[in-house]
Amino acid sequence: MKYITPLIAIVTVFILIFSCNDVQEKIKNKSVGPGGWLKGSGNEKFETIADQLRGFDATMVEVGYRYQELYWAGQDENWDYANYQIEKIETTLKNGFERRPKREKSGTHFLNYVLPEMKKTIKSRDTILFNKGFMMLTSNCNSCHTMEKVPFFTVKIPAERQSPIRK
Ligand code: HEC
Repeated sequence: MKYITPLIAIVTVFILIFSCNDVQEKIKNKSVGPGGWLKGSGNEKFETIADQLRGFDATMVEVGYRYQELYWAGQDENWDYANYQIEKIETTLKNGFERRPKREKSGTHFLNYVLPEMKKTIKSRDTILFNKGFMMLTSNCNSCHTMEKVPFFTVKIPAERQSPIRK
């Protein structure tokens, strides 16, 4: 008889632990997001989000857009806008390297030398210097494409503007 009470206590503790684990498991596997589109275990959900963030292609589509905007900002002498775009190019590239570290080596010179030099030309507020810098920037976009074995992405100075942002 004297064992009954401790036995009940032990069994209760076990039941509590197991039901807790069960609840935790259910929370971990719960589908979330509108319509429950994010499914699976905790790690599976992270994998889905990582896929949705995309790879270096998404980085480059953004860099390509901002590169054009940077050019026209310089032609407009809209230096605050130019500065905004170069900062965003830097952030976009850094985030891209975080997602795809194998691309980083080819981009080191671009981040550490090319972008700071381009920033200096924007600070100078001199269109001639800016245009020289922009040519240097463009040829460095292409050197990275060659290093990364995608030389068919040939970047050339923009000929026509598409964005509605004008000065
Ligand atoms: C780290 C090296 C690197 C640098 C620096 C770089 N690129 Fe790229 N770029 C790539 C790679 C790699 C791809 C192919 C992406 C893929 O296949 O996922 C690419 C693809 C592109 C694409 C095609 C994207 C698409 O999917 O349609 C554009 C546009 C582009 N780059 C523009 C630029 C411009 C403009 C610059 C300079 C301001 C630049 N890139 C600098 C590596 C680089």
